[in-house]
Amino acid sequence: MILVTGGAGYIGSHCALSLIEQGYEVVVFDNLSTGHKQTVETIKNITGSNFNFINGNLLNPEDLDETFSSRNIDAVIHFAAFSQVAESVKDPAKYYRNNICGTLNLLESMRKYNVNKIVFSSTAATYGEPVRIPIDETHPQNPINPYGFSKLVIEKIMDDYDRAYGIKSVRLRYFNVAGADAKGRVGEWHDPETHLIPNILKSTFANSKTFQMFGTDYDTKDGTCVRDYINIEDLISAHILALKYLEAGGKTDFFNLGTKSGNTVKEVFALCEKVTGKQIQVETKPRREGDPAQLVADNTKARQILNWKPDKTLEDSIKSAYLWEKKLQENLKSNY
Ligand SMILES: NC(=O)c1ccc[n+]([C@@H]2O[C@H](COP(=O)([O-])OP(=O)(O)OC[C@H]3O[C@@H](n4cnc5c(N)ncnc54)[C@H](O)[C@@H]3O)[C@@H](O)[C@H]2O)c1
Repeated sequence: MILVTGGAGYIGSHCALSLIEQGYEVVVFDNLSTGHKQTVETIKNITGSNFNFINGNLLNPEDLDETFSSRNIDAVIHFAAFSQVAESVKDPAKYYRNNICGTLNLLESMRKYNVNKIVFSSTAATYGEPVRIPIDETHPQNPINPYGFSKLVIEKIMDDYDRAYGIKSVRLRYFNVAGADAKGRVGEWHDPETHLIPNILKSTFANSKTFQMFGTDYDTKDGTCVRDYINIEDLISAHILALKYLEAGGKTDFFNLGTKSGNTVKEVFALCEKVTGKQIQVETKPRREGDPAQLVADNTKARQILNWKPDKTLEDSIKSAYLWEKKLQENLKSNY
């Protein structure tokens, strides 16, 4: 059985669904702090009996004890965390407590119950300001906010837990995750939403909103910032390959998950207009401090070692995100 922490959230719900569809038995552990009960119900309805849900908090060791003691858990995929950069700057304690202490409790339960495989959601935010592009895994890790730092500390803790206790980890450093399940069954549902694509799509359902585009004079093909958007289904396929890699005796390692080819902010707006058929109002503003011109992953290592191959385009991601967003807006109208 695979324990998926944070499985009621955006990325974890796609992973839980995909694991069950591939025949794994899954237990989702989530305290619904940013995840949704409705997402759990949806997964239950789609998958039926292969799915268990524990409403538990990583900060309560008793919740973890109950989960591990009554099940035969083979491996953990660990998504549960807080992940808003700006909030982490305002309230670092919240991030260090939840992300670092929560993960320590999880690792302690793994030690206690002899579970020695974990796939972990890390982030490109552990690299900080890029010193070269594309960013490969040997790039220095100097995070510039508490969120990124919390994830880097966890990566270091995982190295020590391998050396001392033999717990093998795969840390996946995501770039910008985008899109939804291609059938629109689950998708991105954050409140507040801080990501660009869902915010643009949401604006097409409400009174038209004017977006601010920060910086149009960067040294990029159209002057706007370049980011590496990785499709959620491609991202999840890497998690399942990482799990199989650990199941086959793979050693502790870390991999970037990105496409190696970024898109500009202008391209994102243009594709959202194409997919929705709506015009989006954009106001240009000067550059924001701390926004690098480009953040693009070198994904060679994941291709070579995990045998991973992302194949979805940004347009695919925007299409699936729009399909999901339409459904979410309908559901919310009927007190979903
Ligand atoms: N979304 C992105 O673009 C992105 C990029 C890089 C890394 N990540 C990482 O991926 C992971 C998932 O991100 P997401 O966008 O799905 O976030 P999300 O907020 O949708 O999901 C996180 C889930 O974890 C649960 N959770 C949080 N703290 C918990 C705790 N103490 N105990 C139990 N459950 C808890 C929440 O209720 C939520 O369901 C996070 O670790 C995040 O840092 C996300």
